[in-house]
Amino acid sequence: MLREMFPPERTYLLPALHYLQEEFGHLPDWALQTVAWHLRVPPSEVYGAATSYSELRIDAPGRHLVRVCNGLSCWHNGGRSILELLSGQLGVQPGETGTNSRVTLEETPCGFLCPMAPVVEVDGRWRGRVAAADIPRLVKELT
Ligand code: FES
Repeated sequence: MLREMFPPERTYLLPALHYLQEEFGHLPDWALQTVAWHLRVPPSEVYGAATSYSELRIDAPGRHLVRVCNGLSCWHNGGRSILELLSGQLGVQPGETGTNSRVTLEETPCGFLCPMAPVVEVDGRWRGRVAAADIPRLVKELT
């Protein structure tokens, strides 16, 4: 499948990584090695790309992925306290997956929904104007 979709050229590095992440939810070692071999790109370059872009991940996420925007508008409108509240109530630090693999909490760059700040992405769906009062309900949905 990879061979048919992406000819062996460096140009296809990011499209191939995005495709594999979409298929498997993250980029395990075998996927990085396959892309390197197929595109004839050094494995270190593939690893570098996979770890440089915030939308790509090499570790498997929890069952739920919660991302809090840390862009200027969101941070200015309470995004930091939303992140701290989520971290406290979910019992997971930003950038980590909870010990039971239930929720991964992350910061994310501007989601281009600035007028709706602060925004939180939950399993691919953005929620705008999130307030501290919304956090208990959100946490309940994730448990
Ligand atoms: S700063 Fe958060 S959506 Fe732009």
